[in-house]
Amino acid sequence: MPTISFADSSMTIDVEAGSALIDACEENGAPVEFSCTVGACATCIISIEEGADNVNAPDGDEISCASSRTDVAGARLACQITVNGDITVRYLG
Ligand code: FES
Repeated sequence: MPTISFADSSMTIDVEAGSALIDACEENGAPVEFSCTVGACATCIISIEEGADNVNAPDGDEISCASSRTDVAGARLACQITVNGDITVRYLG
């Protein structure tokens, strides 16, 4: 069972493999904010500090939206992520 950790918090969340990161965050009050929930606003901008290979790859729209919000390499949109293994997330919003 994958564990989601948050770099700025002691919170950890255990989820089923294949779970949507947004659902895990919203159900547990995690320190990541969401707005549009469809990958268009970048409110949910994060970096994955550990386990970047344990989530789905970004599509071109996500890369474009994320890069419009931050220069951090590998930044992702939390509302577009499927969790397949352990990850550590830092909210960049
Ligand atoms: S909540 Fe808008 S891009 Fe994720």
